[in-house]
Order: sequence, then C-alpha cells, then structure tokens
Amino acid sequence: MKAPYIPENAPYSDTQRAWLGGFFAGMHSHMLQTENAGAAADARVIYILYGTQTGNSESVANDAANVAKTHGLKPMVKSMDDIELSQLAEMEYVLIITSTYGEGEMPDNAQILWDAVSANDAPRLENMKYSVLALGDTSYDQFCQAGIDWDHRLEDLGAKRIFDRIDCDVDFEEPAEQWVSEVIPLMADGAATVVLGSSSKPEKPSYNRKNPYPAKMLVNRLLTAENSSKETRHYEISIAGSGLSYEAGDALCVFPSNCPQLVADIVKAIGCQGDEDEPVNGELMPLSEALRTRFEIKTPNKELLQEIANRSGDQELNNLLESDDKDKLADYLWGRDILDLLLQFPEMEFSAAEFLSLLKPLQHRAYSISSSGKMYPDTVHLTVASVRYHAHGRDHKGVCSTFLADLVDENTPVPVFFTPNKVFRVPEDDSLPMIMVGPGTGIAPFRAFLQEREFRQASGKNWLFFGDRNAATDFIYKDELELMQEKGILNRLDLAFSRDQEEKIYVQDRMREHGEELFAWLEQGGYFFVCGDAYRMAKDVDKALFDIIAEHGKMSVIEAANYVSNLKKEKRYVRDVY
Ligand SMILES: Cc1cc2nc3c(=O)[nH]c(=O)nc-3n(C[C@H](O)[C@H](O)[C@H](O)COP(=O)(O)OP(=O)(O)OC[C@H]3O[C@@H](n4cnc5c(N)ncnc54)[C@H](O)[C@@H]3O)c2cc1C
Ligand SMILES: NC(=O)c1ccc[n+]([C@@H]2O[C@H](COP(=O)([O-])OP(=O)(O)OC[C@H]3O[C@@H](n4cnc5c(N)ncnc54)[C@H](OP(=O)(O)O)[C@@H]3O)[C@@H](O)[C@H]2O)c1
Ligand SMILES: Cc1cc2nc3c(=O)[nH]c(=O)nc-3n(C[C@H](O)[C@H](O)[C@H](O)COP(=O)(O)O)c2cc1C
Repeated sequence: MKAPYIPENAPYSDTQRAWLGGFFAGMHSHMLQTENAGAAADARVIYILYGTQTGNSESVANDAANVAKTHGLKPMVKSMDDIELSQLAEMEYVLIITSTYGEGEMPDNAQILWDAVSANDAPRLENMKYSVLALGDTSYDQFCQAGIDWDHRLEDLGAKRIFDRIDCDVDFEEPAEQWVSEVIPLMADGAATVVLGSSSKPEKPSYNRKNPYPAKMLVNRLLTAENSSKETRHYEISIAGSGLSYEAGDALCVFPSNCPQLVADIVKAIGCQGDEDEPVNGELMPLSEALRTRFEIKTPNKELLQEIANRSGDQELNNLLESDDKDKLADYLWGRDILDLLLQFPEMEFSAAEFLSLLKPLQHRAYSISSSGKMYPDTVHLTVASVRYHAHGRDHKGVCSTFLADLVDENTPVPVFFTPNKVFRVPEDDSLPMIMVGPGTGIAPFRAFLQEREFRQASGKNWLFFGDRNAATDFIYKDELELMQEKGILNRLDLAFSRDQEEKIYVQDRMREHGEELFAWLEQGGYFFVCGDAYRMAKDVDKALFDIIAEHGKMSVIEAANYVSNLKKEKRYVRDVY
C-alpha cells in the first residue's frame, strides 16, 4: 500500500494531513539493504534526496553526487517521492536539497514524504547525520520554508546536523557549490574511503544562467483578439546553430532588460541624472544603464521598502512593516511598483550608489515552451500573457512579458537558457492516454505535447481542457486545435470560457461534467497534466480530480487519496504551475 495523497483542498487540518500521510507511509517496509547490496564494502553510502518542481534541486543533487564520488563515497540520488518513510528511517548519511513552492510549501515531489515525516508517529532518526540545502527566492514571504521545515523536523526527530543549512536565493549556484564542497568531506569523514584523483567537475551545458545564449526573435504574434481584455502573444525564438536542444515540457528562461522610460522616470524620482558612473560587479557603468540591464526596478524588495519607510517616516507603511500582517502588506503592495513608492514620497532623494545598493539583481523569467523540439529543432515557441495594468494613477508593465512584446526586435538579442523538467513529459509509452488541463497560458506545454505526439505518430488518446475569459477574443490557437482534432491527434477538447455567461465556468467544472470518462481514461493508464496558475486554478483542479476519482471509482476518502497518491508517485499526475 502506498502513502495516501491528500488533496490540497481536502477538509483536513495540517495535523490530520500529516497524520494520514505518516500512518500509511509507516505501513511500508521496503528494505534499503536491497538497494545497497551492490555497494563496495568500504564505500560509505550517502543519500542525496531532492525536492524539486523545475529541476534546480535535482541538478544540484547530481553535482553533489559527482563530488561525493571523488571522495570515495557511494552517493544515491533520489527524488523524495521515490522514498518511503521506513526507508528514510534507515538512512545514516543524508543530504536534503529542496526548493520551496506555493506559499512556503513543499514542491510536488516532496509532499508525500514530508506528510509522513511530519506526522506525530514518525520514527526517531537518532542514527542519521544530515545537512540541508534550501533553494528559494527572497521575493517570496516564506523564503526557503520547505528547507527550513526539513532541517527543523530532522533535528526534532533526533538526527544530527553535521553542517548548517544554507538558504539560497535565486542565484543558487555559488552557495550551492560552497555547501557541496563543505558538506561532502564531512560526510566522508571517518569513512574507510579513498579520495579519488582530481575532483573532475561535472560537465555543464555550454549555455546556462551564468552564460545565456543570445537568441534571435523571429516571430512576435498577437494571439488574443485586438478587443480582448487581455494580451497573449506567440513568440518564436531561433536557437539555430547554438547546439542547444530541448524536450516538450521544458521551460525557456529569458533575461529581460527594463523599459527605458521606467528607468528615466526612476532616475528623475530619486533626484539623479543617470550618467553617474557606478561600479556593478566590478564594472563601471552609468546609473541608467545599470538600472536598465542589471537591477530589478519594478517589484519592491523588503530592504528598499524598509528604507523608504524609514526615510519617509510614513505611518501607514511603517505600521504595515512592523505589524507582521503579511496579507495586509501584500494588499498594500498589490500593483504598486518602486516608482509608485518614490512618487508617493517625492521629498526622498537617493545618491546613485545608495539607490543601487538597495536593489536586487534583475532576474530571468521562466516560460513553458509551447513547441516540440522534435518538430521545431531550430526554434522555441512561447505563449506569453503580457502583464499590463493600470494602478495608482499610472500604467504598469510586467518586466519580461513586455520586454518580449515591446522592446525586442530582430536586432535585439534575447538572452535565454533552458531548464529541463524531467517529469513533465509526454509518456514514453505512445499508447497511453493523456489528459491535459491548461487554461490561459497553461495551454503552452500542451501545444508542445500534441506536436510531440503527432511527430511520434503516437496512438494514445489526447484530451485537452482549455479555457480563458471569452471565446470570441481569447480562444488562442483555435485553428491549430481544430486541425489537430481533424487529424485525429486531439481526441477531446473541452472548453470553459469563464466570462461568456453570468456564472463563472472553469476547466474543473468541465472535468466534473465528464468525470466518468475522465476516470475511465485514468484507469486505462492515463496521464494527468496541469499547467497554469498555481494559486487558484491548480488547487481547484486538484480538488476536482480527487472528487472525480472518489465518485466514479466509488472510493472512500482514504482510497481516493491513495489513488491520487499513486498517480503522483508513478509521475502520471504532474504539474507545471506558476
Ligand atoms: C515554470 C514557469 C513557467 C511559466 N510559464 C509561463 C508561460 O508559459 N506563459 C506566461 O505568460 N507566463 C509563464 N510564467 C510566468 C512568467 O515567468 C512571469 O512570471 C510572467 O511573464 C510575469 O513576468 P513579468 O516580468 O512580465 O512581470 P513582473 O515584472 O515580474 O511583474 C509581475 C508582478 O506584477 C504584479 N501584477 C501582475 N498583474 C497585475 C494586475 N493585474 N494588477 C496588479 N498587479 C499585477 C504582481 O505583483 C506580479 O507579481 C511561468 C513561470 C514559471 C515559474
Ligand atoms: N498571482 C496571481 O494572482 C495570478 C493569477 C493568475 C495568473 N497570473 C499571471 O497572469 C498571467 C496570465 O495568466 P493566464 O493568461 O495564464 O491566465 P489566467 O489569468 O490565470 O486566466 C485563465 C482562465 O482561468 C480562469 N480562472 C480564474 N480562477 C480560476 C480557478 N480558480 N480555477 C480555474 N480557472 C480559473 C480565468 O477566469 P476569470 O479570470 O474570469 O476568473 C480565465 O478564464 C500569467 O503571467 C500568470 O503568472 C497571476
Ligand atoms: C510558483 C512558485 C512559488 C514559489 N514559492 C516560493 C516560496 O514560497 N518561497 C521561496 O523561498 N521560494 C519560492 N519559489 C522559488 C523556488 O523555490 C526557486 O525558484 C527554486 O530555485 C526552484 O527550484 P526547483 O527547480 O528545484 O524547484 C517559488 C517559485 C515559483 C515558480
């Protein structure tokens, strides 16, 4: 019996969820010895367990394993959902590498093990020596929370921390390398091991976050109608001659630069000229250029907010920052950018150096690729909603989505790199059904999946749930989808246009309407994919899936939870949500 999956919206308290997870996981007893049987007698086995959504933690885990081998250790790299609690309880040397998702939550592949280990009846782990590397992003309130939770929980259960946790921001490579280089020798300490030759560095792809590929934009096409309430665009970016390749399901990360008008407005608002030369990463450059290409100048970070609160003495902002009421602060910040704050307190002035010291480095944005690398080896297609809104008396633009929409032409290189998503993949078995739920830009990877299936001449059935605001203006890729239907590649298409009628209709409503058939597809070995908004849609779809399985599988809550849990473990229920 597998540990049960507990739907995100199920009526359980956190404690009940944890208990249910632990109760079932505790009933397993796969013996680790079986796996270790091949280990050389004098090689110490270390387990490197990763929790990941988009592959960063997994890639650090693999790097750590390579370093471990050079220290004569026997590393076992495991996705957390391949581990039972009973197995964890037997591990002696453990490295945890995990990202954080949602709002301080575990990534999808770590949830079941986490539920089990955080249960009241989880076993003691007195024999375990461990260290945690947490990947996260300081722009989120609950920075690195999943890693923090693991670190505390293992300590509570009696495990011995042999090296302090490192919490990594989006620039995780250097601190991660540092952690690996310090923790591996500690893991090897005292083991009857031989340090092998030179520590050969793992091969990294030629282009990566530190060295993005300057790609050329070939196509920028509006997908939504001119009179739509939103703007979604189709991009085709050339990678011809780069040596790069990708799989359907991967993401392309784009490094934008900021809008020159926003830069000019900010320079004016802080009382500078823009031509002040400032050092940035050892390079001297004018303030305007630094703001345009190096720093995040839209979304305010906590340090800058605090400084503005201090300098302005503004009661409301100071109260919000002191009160610890995160929801209130989020409400205050919703739609407010750095320029709004500067304009709100016009008496504030900053020197160029002061201002730059309060900003965070400009970050890349990820986009789910909407083409199949087999069908389009020389180009990458993206499906991007341009973020544009009016707030606080000004028009606002999302940095990257409007960089692509407004600022890139065929002569502007677009710095890009790929992030593979090894679990979000068209099934290897071409005969198995795929159910894809992708409203809005969530359709992106499913366009790629359908192309992939067409290319492979796969016989498996394909079912897409798509929706957006209005059919007349927002039915993106309509012609392509209809053609796919004619060709027999897309076997079912269910649509939910939320604003075409008084009552909202969403993709999960369509799922429920066809619940019996959806369950039948799952029973045939079907895969269930979700892409798009993480905060509302993916949670409601998760709940609908659970309800459908319980109703049409005639299962109890526990049985249905188990069923979904198995789907996750078999990587037949996977999500790409943001
Ligand atoms: C794995 C992954 C895959 C993704 N795939 C896609 C994809 O295929 N297509 C896609 O379009 N996006 C995708 N995204 C989202 C994408 O990465 C960016 O977050 C998105 O394009 C916004 O970035 P931006 O730089 O334009 O906006 P930013 O400059 O980052 O600004 C966004 C911020 O603006 C504010 N904001 C946005 N809308 C409003 C509003 N209406 N009112 C008030 N404030 C608002 C919010 O504070 C929001 O956080 C994906 C994300 C991830 C992590
Ligand atoms: N942080 C946020 O609040 C948030 C949320 C969503 C998207 N985004 C961002 O906005 C951009 C555009 O998003 P998008 O084009 O992919 O689409 P989207 O704005 O998420 O909307 C797509 C469709 O999903 C519907 N929807 C809303 N709530 C839903 C729910 N609980 N369950 C199911 N469907 C629901 C929408 O309906 P209605 O709009 O009519 O309700 C719309 O019909 C992306 O960059 C994304 O990251 C941010
Ligand atoms: C939708 C979403 C939610 C996130 N939530 C958090 C969060 O709450 N706290 C945090 O520190 N990082 C958060 N992150 C950042 C990720 O943890 C970070 O990007 C990490 O490097 C991803 O690693 P992975 O590829 O191994 O999943 C979030 C990222 C996304 C896309």
